[in-house]
Amino acid sequence: MNINNQHYRTIWVDPDNQANIKIIDQRQLPHSLVIEDLRTIDDFARAIFEMHVRGAGLIGATAGFGMYSATLSSSNDLLATLQRAADLLVKTRPTATNLAWAVNRQLAVARNAKTPEDLKKKVFELACQIADEDAEACRCIGEYGVELIREISRQKKGEPVNILTHCNAGWLAFVDFGSATAPIYAAHHEKIPVHVWVDETRPWLQGAKLTAWELMQEGVPHTLIADNTGGHLMQHDMVDMVIVGTDRTTATGDVANKIGTYLKALAARDNNIPFYVALPSSTFDWQLSNGVAEIPIEQRSGDEISYVSGINKSGSMENVLVCPQGTITANYSFDVTPARLVTGLITERGIVKAEKQDILRLFPEKK
Ligand code: MRU
Repeated sequence: MNINNQHYRTIWVDPDNQANIKIIDQRQLPHSLVIEDLRTIDDFARAIFEMHVRGAGLIGATAGFGMYSATLSSSNDLLATLQRAADLLVKTRPTATNLAWAVNRQLAVARNAKTPEDLKKKVFELACQIADEDAEACRCIGEYGVELIREISRQKKGEPVNILTHCNAGWLAFVDFGSATAPIYAAHHEKIPVHVWVDETRPWLQGAKLTAWELMQEGVPHTLIADNTGGHLMQHDMVDMVIVGTDRTTATGDVANKIGTYLKALAARDNNIPFYVALPSSTFDWQLSNGVAEIPIEQRSGDEISYVSGINKSGSMENVLVCPQGTITANYSFDVTPARLVTGLITERGIVKAEKQDILRLFPEKK
């Protein structure tokens, strides 16, 4: 998507040096656009753990390139080096399934390589392919999802369709287009009037910092709200639909997404508002059937709760403490919304009910 009218992806290969992978350091947004170079496996692990990059699809694409970066080491045993890189990467963020998915694809391709040169070539090609597939899947999600928005717009006789979203499942969370935002961007480009309610998404504020910025860059009308506002808006007919992303989805349609998503789903159900989850199929964890019991929930540093970051009046980034020094905190990063609260899953192959049979109808090879 666009930054100052110039097209960017969230991760790309340096055209002058294939060993250099470029990312946008998302910790600096929306106040500065900082492009960072990743060169070593430690750079990649740090970028994922410290959330220079974040969001399920982008974490997967970054891990794919991280594995490629590990092949550039001078080791004589590239398979052992890759296994160590895989072990390091999968520990960085436990909830988003795309991480292990990308790493395992790279290990499989490496094991089938005939020579070290062949291995390096194949792992590089697969890293690029994982990134391209992610962008393409999100583009398709936009094509399917826009049909839902078009239908609501028709019923509202052209009045703006109000869509609530939580966290950032925008292009910054993927390689391009985003999952939850792809249908919104598609609608906006079709000139269907839309308006997005953007949950600020404490503690890290992905909504306030990233989603609001993305939508502003694309000229999509939106309003930033405090996290607890959605229920009130729904009670007053100010939300037509909810679209969120997911970091891991069970084969039965339970979804793990940013903390607070479950409460939005409950409020949507109470107010009869459709609650859609948009995802590329790389987000399915086909082994799981009970999200609440089985999806690992990442717990991050309590500092993300105690401190808020932003720019001060002189324009420099600052972290300020918002609670009494020494307050005990708990920072659960994700929660699970059970399938029964999900109206439908918007995937790159179409829209399905959040139930095993319907999901498998679209992905028969997973039976
Ligand atoms: O902790 P993050 O920022 O990596 O969390 C991921 C998210 O942005 C959300 O949970 C998102 O809605 C789904 S990921 C596409």
